[in-house]
Amino acid sequence: MDATAVLAWYDRHARDLPWRVSPADRAAGVRPDPYRVWLSEVMLQQTTVAAVKKFFLRFTSLWPTVFDLAAAPLDSVLKEWAGLGYYARARNLHACAEAVVRDHGGVFPQTSAGLQTLPGVGAYTSAAIAAICFDEKIAVLDGNLDRVLARYYALPVPVREAKDELRAALQASVPQRAGDFAQAMMDLGATICAPRTALCMLCPIQRGCIATEAGDPTVYPIKPTK
Ligand code: ADE
Repeated sequence: MDATAVLAWYDRHARDLPWRVSPADRAAGVRPDPYRVWLSEVMLQQTTVAAVKKFFLRFTSLWPTVFDLAAAPLDSVLKEWAGLGYYARARNLHACAEAVVRDHGGVFPQTSAGLQTLPGVGAYTSAAIAAICFDEKIAVLDGNLDRVLARYYALPVPVREAKDELRAALQASVPQRAGDFAQAMMDLGATICAPRTALCMLCPIQRGCIATEAGDPTVYPIKPTK
């Protein structure tokens, strides 16, 4: 996959989201804040970007740092979480903030392996934070990426039968700007290679997409028969 084309597209079309660093700030050397990236990724696990924005802004205004969140009463965190669903995630969120403060002096670990030792931080979240904040060259694979890759490779089997192959293929494409690449692929999945429609004429990886060459990308991913 042409990661250079993906990054060039991202430089022009990245969504402006509250947990991202603006292009101007990025040019000035500002890096994403692991606390904000972690918070956004946890919120985004089962909730849409549109719904998360408001909650993210509320949380970060009440608790601008991991120290503030760790010191907050669990009750108020749960109260602010109402509407996002899955209270277990809010409890984990608070426990994770406490662990970062207690065990790491308030500094998030800087590798996916280190991040995975935190409560509630699994393979996906640790990879996302490590790539976005520290440019760790790691595949960040969520359900949207499954769809993009199933189309790009015209995957002949349901995704769940080829998880390892998809991960390996994505891993092999990750460039130096791993964080921007991960976010670019998320944006691509959200805005171009969407579940029901594929705007292939706008897609930076149309060239090389086997499903597009074959005619109709939306026949992928193949549904499991049961
Ligand atoms: N979905 C999950 N993480 C995301 C991110 N960082 N940007 C946009 N969409 C996302």
